[in-house]
Amino acid sequence: MRSVIDILDLSVAELDELVACANDIIENPEKYAHKCAGKKLATLFFEPSTRTRLSFEAAMYELGGNVLSMSDAKSSSAAKGESVADTAKTISCYADIIAMRHPKEGAPLVASMNASIPVINAGDGGHNHPTQTLADLLTISREKGRFNNITVGFCGDLKFGRTVHSLISALSRYENVKFVLISPEELKLPSYVKKDIIQKNNLEYVQTTDLEEVMPELDILYMTRVQRERFFNEEDYLRLKDSYILTPEKLETAKKDLCIMHPLPRVNEISVAVDEDPRACYFKQVLNGKYMRMALILKLLEVK
Ligand code: NCD
Repeated sequence: MRSVIDILDLSVAELDELVACANDIIENPEKYAHKCAGKKLATLFFEPSTRTRLSFEAAMYELGGNVLSMSDAKSSSAAKGESVADTAKTISCYADIIAMRHPKEGAPLVASMNASIPVINAGDGGHNHPTQTLADLLTISREKGRFNNITVGFCGDLKFGRTVHSLISALSRYENVKFVLISPEELKLPSYVKKDIIQKNNLEYVQTTDLEEVMPELDILYMTRVQRERFFNEEDYLRLKDSYILTPEKLETAKKDLCIMHPLPRVNEISVAVDEDPRACYFKQVLNGKYMRMALILKLLEVK
């Protein structure tokens, strides 16, 4: 029985295997339509979500399985004071696999230590979001055909943006990856990610506040939303929320084969005019997320 709490819980070989499986699902969906018949996925979401929860649920339905869904923490026993550990033990009696999102960093890890079924971290506070990274990796693989030899710009809220932390972790295991970290001073990448991931793996990186200056060198531009719900005061959020707004004009100096990504939801950070640009990949990322979650569910349920 295996859980995925951090993207590093999966080896590079396993990531390759998941990408290959997702590509096969895209080509031959009918082959997979009954693979999870009789199995149940429980989605336990203690924080808002559109894509992550619904894509997990769509993934399970497309595998022929069923879903038990808890989308509102206020209507669950957590509101009565139940611990994450007890919730995990309880859900283990009903389902075969859990996808959990929680505002507290480490909550899905605690769930995995108490559940008797696999637990997937669907986002824990400002920490990690490994299945968004799976969506991101399939997108990079399909758009660029490689994970090596790329310059990846991360722009926006690098402090609280859990999708950034997980994607940096994943890419740190490949060759000749360069990170360009673009953020306001207050929203810089946490030092633990910089030290334990980027510097430990001897990867090249630069930090800047200026998106336009670095635009021409990027192969991938990963935009992020300023994470309002993690701020201690609204004033700071209001001051920082529009630090970066990507427009067609700002893309004029970008590479012709730039891949523009965003985990979504977007607020203001990408102008809708950019959606027409063939380099905009963020809605492809959404679809890729469903296929990678299908591949992950199959792997963790050990379905052949
Ligand atoms: C992200 C998240 O929840 O961290 N959304 C998602 O799952 N696609 C990004 C965000 O909320 O800004």
